[in-house]
Amino acid sequence: MLPAMPNSLRIEHEQLREDLDQAIRIGGRIGEAARVLQSLLRPHFRREDDNVFLGLGLLRTVAEGKVTPGMSELVAKAEQLKSELPEMLAEHDQIRKALERLGQEATKEGRPQVAFFAARLMHHASMEEEVLYPAAIVLGEYLKSLLVPAGAVPANDRSRSMGVSPLV
Ligand SMILES: [Fe+2]
Ligand SMILES: [Fe+2]
Repeated sequence: MLPAMPNSLRIEHEQLREDLDQAIRIGGRIGEAARVLQSLLRPHFRREDDNVFLGLGLLRTVAEGKVTPGMSELVAKAEQLKSELPEMLAEHDQIRKALERLGQEATKEGRPQVAFFAARLMHHASMEEEVLYPAAIVLGEYLKSLLVPAGAVPANDRSRSMGVSPLV
């Protein structure tokens, strides 16, 4: 049972994609810098949507103590994120360089809305590094400790003993 990604994060990625498309449509040096950014951002966002944000769709439910055995599918996702984290952080470094260039071109050509977009995307990457990636990993570790214990304790028994209320 994999969750849907949280609406707020889905919308944030969509808005950033739309703002990037607008920057590309401006053309010239801004459009060129925006295209470079797009080639980096497309696969990166897809990977986040599949491996990071999907798991966070369950964060609120888990925080309410509602853990079910079906959530164990997220453990593998979180482990994948953990192993891919250095690569994803390296992608952020490349994205930041592309954003710096886009921001410079925007400032030179008097396009404050594009410069603002570049600053927003920088902030987005920092928030992922400081909050969202670690939250997804901690969520996976937590679910693993409840649902995939080393001693093969049944998930329901383990959940009850830790004071959470399994739904099934
Ligand atoms: Fe993102
Ligand atoms: Fe990112």
